[in-house]
Amino acid sequence: MKISVIGAGYVGLTTAACLAQIGHDVFCGESDLEKLTKLQNGVMPLFEPNLEDVIKAGRKAGRLHFGSTEDAIAWGDAIFICVGTPPLANGDADLSAIEGVARSIARHASGYRLVIEKSTVPVQTGAQLQRHLAAHSRNGLSYDVASNPEFLREGSSVEDFLHPDRIVIGVDSPRAENLLRQIYEPIIHQSFSCPVHTSCPSRKNPIFLATDTNSAELIKHASNSFLAMKISFINMVANLCEVVGADVTKVAQGMGLDPRIGPSFLNPGIGFGGFCFPKDVQAFIRIAEKSRCDFSLLREVEKINQRRVEHFVEKVRKELWVVRGKKIAVWGLAFKPNTDDVRFAPSIALMKALLDEGASVRAYDPEAMEKAKSVLPNITFCSDPYDAAEGADAVLIVTEWDEFRQTDWKRLRSIVDQPLVIDGRNVFSPEGISRNGFRYISIGRVDALPSQPPADEKIDAALALAGNTASEVVA
Ligand code: UDX
Repeated sequence: MKISVIGAGYVGLTTAACLAQIGHDVFCGESDLEKLTKLQNGVMPLFEPNLEDVIKAGRKAGRLHFGSTEDAIAWGDAIFICVGTPPLANGDADLSAIEGVARSIARHASGYRLVIEKSTVPVQTGAQLQRHLAAHSRNGLSYDVASNPEFLREGSSVEDFLHPDRIVIGVDSPRAENLLRQIYEPIIHQSFSCPVHTSCPSRKNPIFLATDTNSAELIKHASNSFLAMKISFINMVANLCEVVGADVTKVAQGMGLDPRIGPSFLNPGIGFGGFCFPKDVQAFIRIAEKSRCDFSLLREVEKINQRRVEHFVEKVRKELWVVRGKKIAVWGLAFKPNTDDVRFAPSIALMKALLDEGASVRAYDPEAMEKAKSVLPNITFCSDPYDAAEGADAVLIVTEWDEFRQTDWKRLRSIVDQPLVIDGRNVFSPEGISRNGFRYISIGRVDALPSQPPADEKIDAALALAGNTASEVVA
């Protein structure tokens, strides 16, 4: 099928590349000329694992094209809207980019088109789109509007698109439903040749769930808000563990064994960030307020999250006594591993707090330093974790990149000024770190003092309990 994708951000690019991969003829439109030129010249405007290969394959096969929004609109029988919906100052989603695309579709498209909202939008946006298209259309345009929320995680968006748990569509006509089934047919039956996985993570066929448009729109906001609530819940439990001397890892493990709760999204830390959770929770609160439904539960979720960075800074203060003049190494800037995205990353608020208190900060991130430079001008960006830790009074772990799990503790011990690690993501087991001569402070667990190596068997038993292997945590 000929398909248009409007917007070449994380969602749009992944959607365009993967739809080309499963056999469609895709035209992706982008209004930012710098980004468009990069894409037309085969240069990636963002880092996302596997995406570059899928884009290359699509272009080589002649099934993936990049150009202007207008050219993209003229192309497809189905048009996926994947433009940004950033938060306004009051928490509402800014829908001006969606409105702009709807206006262009109304003006430039003719014949029948299926218009699909994939960007995260407030409930009833589909109905607004319908009205807008009706009011502005020329050239005998006829259309259906559908919702098809994305559940792509940055860092694994290609995998999530090709091997999803579920595909949700919101439709108000059988024609729209049939078209969307046709578009996703190879994914529904997992019948395409997977470009990136030699053994695919999940060959299970996804559930295809068709609802009305309003319900599909709500599914997206409700899912993200629920996951954010899970994270804030475990962060609150972590605070309690710190006070009473319990271990949040064990508590989360025990909770997660109940299938009604499940083990995922129970990792405590320095808080959730990124361009989805913070803005989606805010937008959902606003939707509820406007509908006069009391959703103060989500206000608490937000508040708990906002306090995470301050809670972490308090740990730094407690350890360093005076922060002014101290050298602090920050490992990780991206809001999570395997992405270069620093939007709403906890690292930004953390760094600002440390600088405000007069610390000097040396930071390292495997992928996110370029993007961080524009938002954090007053820190030193380093070439690797050891460079960042040179002469440090404390090493702070802010993003759980795999690279940090390979730390050479002997080397680190020889270059830091104080052997102190404060871990905002519980990457290591306290026993392993303290055995390497470091004081180790983490989230929701008892602080670990540097210790002499105990007998190997004892360490192995301790690590097994912590759910890690010796090679992961001990140099
Ligand atoms: C999310 C949703 O998962 C995805 O379905 C949706 O479509 C877009 O938003 P993403 O923003 O890429 O995806 O990140 P995700 O992996 O969900 O993590 C979000 C944040 O929560 C990160 O900052 C992460 O560090 C944090 N997190 C996640 C925790 O603090 N603890 C956890 O247990 C899980």
